[in-house]
This record gives sequence, structure tokens and C-alpha cells, in this order.
Amino acid sequence: MTSDPVPLFLAPMAGVTDLAYRLLARECGADVTVTEFTAASGLTRRDTHSWLKVESDPREQPFIPQIFGGITEEMVQTVELLQDRADVIDINFGCPAPKVCRNDAGAALLRDPDRVVEMVRACLDVAKVPITVKVRLGTGGGPNTALEVAERLEAEGIERICVHGRTLRQRYSGTADWEQIRDIVEAVDIPVIANGDVVDAATASACLEATGAAGLMIGRGAIGRPTIFHDIKRDLGWSDQAPTWGDGDPAVARLWCWKRYLELSGELYTVQENKNLKRHAVSFTKGLPGASAMRVELHSIGGQAELGRRVTEYLEELTEPSSIAA
Ligand SMILES: Cc1cc2nc3c(=O)[nH]c(=O)nc-3n(C[C@H](O)[C@H](O)[C@H](O)COP(=O)(O)O)c2cc1C
Repeated sequence: MTSDPVPLFLAPMAGVTDLAYRLLARECGADVTVTEFTAASGLTRRDTHSWLKVESDPREQPFIPQIFGGITEEMVQTVELLQDRADVIDINFGCPAPKVCRNDAGAALLRDPDRVVEMVRACLDVAKVPITVKVRLGTGGGPNTALEVAERLEAEGIERICVHGRTLRQRYSGTADWEQIRDIVEAVDIPVIANGDVVDAATASACLEATGAAGLMIGRGAIGRPTIFHDIKRDLGWSDQAPTWGDGDPAVARLWCWKRYLELSGELYTVQENKNLKRHAVSFTKGLPGASAMRVELHSIGGQAELGRRVTEYLEELTEPSSIAA
């Protein structure tokens, strides 16, 4: 497995990639992070919950909020509102969620490349920061449009495009079509980031070989396992930096990451509760011995502090020499 180093992106994931998790992923080797998608309609009506999603921190550079919407005027206004704090603004044309697509936003817009181009052009007209986009291959209800969209948006002036190698109709089923990503890589000069089904060094290398992409974006493989970025770089010989958590036992890495996540979370979410904590607690314990019983227990814990303590205790028990020998 040999590949030249390319940047590794943590995929935007609603309910997962909160600021604490993005900072943790960076400490674990992610080169670029993006916020979860945030509705332009929420941001333009100054909805507090939406604005919390686009919080950042000086340690997150570049800061890339991701936005979506079906109304061009709202998207333009959102770019204007965000650009003082953002280094880059990413537009989502990939979300398959019915409530998003019903409003003719997200991946549903890929049905109509003219509308995508018109929306992005209007955003670029007012943007003082680079605009990037994230797309799926198409809707799956007709010929795929991602290639046409990529060519036309390159001509409009976007900085980069990320392609998830599935259609809207596929949602997360089947396998990502890396060949179609290659077609896009070959058709445009802007960087194309390949996304879909990269879960370790072997798939990272295979995806780079198949697509020739300028970078890789990792989603589900990084849930509960932010060290995936370090592991890929180590296994592909891109970095020989020793990890802070010490190589070897995966439970040790999980424990380090969990404690660090709690630390960052405590630092960043003093006022509001961390809504994602329970989900992360389940992900950080997944696949480890006794995880199913642990998951049941976690669902009955109400308090955040207690949740944090219980997962720490569980992971500590797993890393004790007696449990490893058992
Ligand atoms: C829980 C979850 C939430 C997601 N939320 C977003 C999002 O907010 N914005 C976005 O562009 N994609 C979102 N995605 C899609 C991912 O960014 C990525 O494109 C997809 O998971 C495929 O990559 P993977 O095979 O590495 O997981 C989400 C995916 C998951 C699993």
C-alpha cells in the first residue's frame, strides 16, 4: 500500500461532529473539519440553535461551516452573515433526509443542475471567502448529474468539490462508486475530495488509487474512532509521529479519546448541555467486550456527568492488565 499523502477530512455529520468532536479529530490527525449542515432558514431568522452549530474555536483552522437550503436569497444572506467568522463556506447538495429534500434542498437539488448553478453563482457573487460544495452522484431518479454540476461550478469559481459516491436514492446502502468519482477528478482541475466507504488504511489507499482524488473524507469510520486519521497516516507511511495515546491496545486509544472529548466538551459547552454526549458514549464503547450491556445501561443514565464517569470507568476497566489477560 503506497500512496502520496493527501489531506484527510472529517465528514460533516449531524449529531456527531460537534465542535468538541471536531477538535478531537484534529488532535487525532484529521487535517480538515467541517460543521454539520445548518439550515440557511434557521441562520437567517437568527435561530439560536442554528447559530450554536456554527460555533468554532481558534484551534479549528480553517473554520468551514456547512449550510443548506432551497431558497437562493436565504443562502446568499447566510453567506453574508457567516463570512466574517468563516474561512471557507461549504454548501450541501448531498443530504438525503426527506425533510431536507422535501424543501428542495440538499441532494434533491441535483435533479436540477441549473438551479444548483444559479444558487452557487449568487452565493459566489457576494462571497469574500472561498465557497466549496459537497454533492452526491445524483438523485438516482435519472442520469447522474454530479459530473455536469462539478464542471459548471468549477467554471463559476468554486474552490473545491467533495463527492460522496452514492445517489440520493441509495442513501447509505450499497457501496460507494469510486469510478464515478474518478470521472469527475479527470474532468475538472479544482481539487476533488473522494467520500464514501473509507474505513481504514487499506480502503483509503484503494480509494485514492481508484479515484486519483486530491483528498479523502471520512464519515462513519470516524464515529467513535477519531484515531482513524492517525492510523491511516501511520499505516500508509505518511507520518511517523507517535500518538499521544500510545499505540497498541484499541481500548487505551478509546479511553484517551473519551477523556479528551469530555475535557473539550466541558471547556466548550459550559452553558448548554452537550446533546451528542449519549450518542458518543454509545459509539466509543461499540465493539468492545460487554458493550451491549453497557449500551442498555447508558440509556438509563440521565445526567451528563454521570454518563461521562460511567463510560470512563468502563473503558478504564477494559484497559487494566487483568482484563487484557482475561
Ligand atoms: C449520522 C450522519 C450524519 C450526517 N450528516 C451530514 C451533514 O450534516 N452534512 C453532510 O454533508 N453530510 C452528512 N452526512 C454524510 C457524510 O458526510 C458522508 O458523506 C457519508 O457518511 C459517506 O461517507 P462515509 O462512507 O465515510 O460514512 C452524514 C452521515 C451520517 C452517517
